[in-house]
Amino acid sequence: MERAKLGIVVGAKGRGSNMMAIADACESEDFPAAVEVVVAPTPDSPALAAARQRGLAAKVAPYGEDFGARLLEVLKPCDLVCLAGFMRLLPSEVLQAFPKRVLNIHPALLPRHGGKGMYGSRVHQAVLDAEDDESGCTVHFVDERYDEGDIILQRRVPVRPGDDNESLASRVLAAEHEAYPAAIRKVLEDM
Ligand code: GRF
Repeated sequence: MERAKLGIVVGAKGRGSNMMAIADACESEDFPAAVEVVVAPTPDSPALAAARQRGLAAKVAPYGEDFGARLLEVLKPCDLVCLAGFMRLLPSEVLQAFPKRVLNIHPALLPRHGGKGMYGSRVHQAVLDAEDDESGCTVHFVDERYDEGDIILQRRVPVRPGDDNESLASRVLAAEHEAYPAAIRKVLEDM
C-alpha cells in the first residue's frame, strides 16, 4: 500500500498534541498515511521541537511577504495538509495547490463557536457561557474563511455540571486526538 504523505502545519505557540496523535496513528501498519514533514512559521514553536524530538522532518517557513511561497515549497511533496494549531488563514497559493486537500481541527461543534478570534480557551468559554450541554470537535476542509469549510467529521463530548474551561478543554482535546486520524482516514478513503 502506497501511503499518503502528510504535511502537518503547526502553530508558532502550539503544543503539538494533535501532530503527535497523527504521528502515533501513522505508526499503525494499517494507517493509510505517513508524516512527510512538520512545518511551523517560527523556529521556536514548541510543536516543532516535539516533532524534531520524535525524529520527524521539521521545517520552518517564516512569516513574511513570501510566506505562501515558502510554505508551498516545504509542502510540495505532500498529498494532504493538516493544520494542527495553526491559527491564521492559509495563503491562497497554498489553498489553490491543495484543493480539498487541506484539513483543520476546531475544538467545538461547528458551525457553533467558530470564526475569527475563536480559538483555545475562548471557544470553551463560549460553550460554557452559552450553557450548551455538549461540545466536541470538528475536522473540516480549509477554505479562505475561518472555520467555514465543509465538515469531514465531528466528535461530541458532554459538558458536565461543574465543568470549567480547563476540564472541558481536556475532554475536547482527548476527542480531537481520536478525531483527526479518523478524519484523515476518511478523506483518503474518499479520494
Ligand atoms: C487544538 O485545540 C485545535 O483544535 C486547535 O488548536 C489546538 C492545537 O492544539 N486548532 P495542539 O497544538 O495540537 O495541542
